[in-house]
Amino acid sequence: MKPLSVYFHWPYCKSKCPYCDFFKLVQKNVDQASVVDGYIKELDYYHQILPDYCVQSVFFGGGTPSLLNPLYVERLINHVLSLWCVDKNCEITLEANPNSNRHQMFSDLKHAGVNRLSLGVQALNDQDLKFLGRTHTLVDARQSIEEVLTVFDNHSMDLIYARPNQNLDVWLQELNEAAHFGFKHLSLYQLTIEEGTVFEKKGIQALEEGKAAEMYSKTVEFLRHNGYPRYEVSNFAPASFESVHNKCYWQGDEYIGIGQSAHGRFKVRGKHYASVHPHQFEILSHDERAEELVIMGLRLQKGIEKQHFKDICGVDFDAFVNQDKLYDMVSKGLLVDEKGCVRATDKGFLILDKIIENLCV
Ligand SMILES: C[S@@+](CC[C@H](N)C(=O)[O-])C[C@H]1O[C@@H](n2cnc3c(N)ncnc32)[C@H](O)[C@@H]1O
Ligand code: SF4
Repeated sequence: MKPLSVYFHWPYCKSKCPYCDFFKLVQKNVDQASVVDGYIKELDYYHQILPDYCVQSVFFGGGTPSLLNPLYVERLINHVLSLWCVDKNCEITLEANPNSNRHQMFSDLKHAGVNRLSLGVQALNDQDLKFLGRTHTLVDARQSIEEVLTVFDNHSMDLIYARPNQNLDVWLQELNEAAHFGFKHLSLYQLTIEEGTVFEKKGIQALEEGKAAEMYSKTVEFLRHNGYPRYEVSNFAPASFESVHNKCYWQGDEYIGIGQSAHGRFKVRGKHYASVHPHQFEILSHDERAEELVIMGLRLQKGIEKQHFKDICGVDFDAFVNQDKLYDMVSKGLLVDEKGCVRATDKGFLILDKIIENLCV
């Protein structure tokens, strides 16, 4: 049976962080029972069109899914289990904010079936937490970190770096602290100033490009020597703790998305579909799907396996990409093309967007 991943988007947040452009709603008294009823109906719908799959991962993302009552998390997980065959090592992740921590929330989530917790810490000092508009303090973060590490065997932490005026040495100290808590996985994102966000409206500038690139290179190097090899642009973990769910997006595997703004990708009778909640479908051409696979696949350290690429989209990698540009970028040491795989080098990772643009013209 083909593998399938399931994404639930819980869009509700306590407040809006000034840098965030993810789909979210700040709303009091959410009728969680009705929203979850709608999600259950969506699962039933998708099961009818995609029955013969084995679920390899479930992800509760947001928004702030740690605001969802663990009893509803359990209901959704159990419904997935009742519909599909589920891999015995199925990864079930939930993203939590440090201060949505009600009494025993983490153990309740574990009891609900969550087996991987991703904690949105974002910064390890109060001044930067405040700058990022976070509603948690360092004390909240430390308390949640301790609980997550005690309750779960598999866990990840998110941090945002390359903050305006952030100094490399100070960041490396923070990174050193982050790398020694004992998380199995780290997601480290450079602060981007997104259109329409409060940061953009206030004219906050991202860290200067050269400084940000240096910070990225030093981050990758530090983590490589401290047990967290890069396996994707912003994600670091030993091979056994790479995120099954997120790799599904980067490798072009099939997934369904449930909850406002969630999207999916799957194949039915040879046709590729892009979906947006609630089950609105668009057919993608083979070339459109191939382009997506280049964009996503090169984010991975291992890059794109050409045979896997062809198996998914039916298009030959070498026929699809611009061969002159590929050759040029290989000779400049930006890409490696060997043993049926194309991957970015350390130098290439610094200008990945440009590389992808060149390959797809
Ligand atoms: C959609 S957020 C949800 C997680 C959770 N609500 C939280 O705030 O921790 C997923 C991650 O994206 C990252 N992120 C969101 N906006 C970003 C931005 N403009 N620049 C860098 N990272 C960002 C944050 O690290 C965040 O943990
Ligand atoms: S960063 Fe997280 S908590 Fe903040 S607005 Fe975005 S989704 Fe909500």
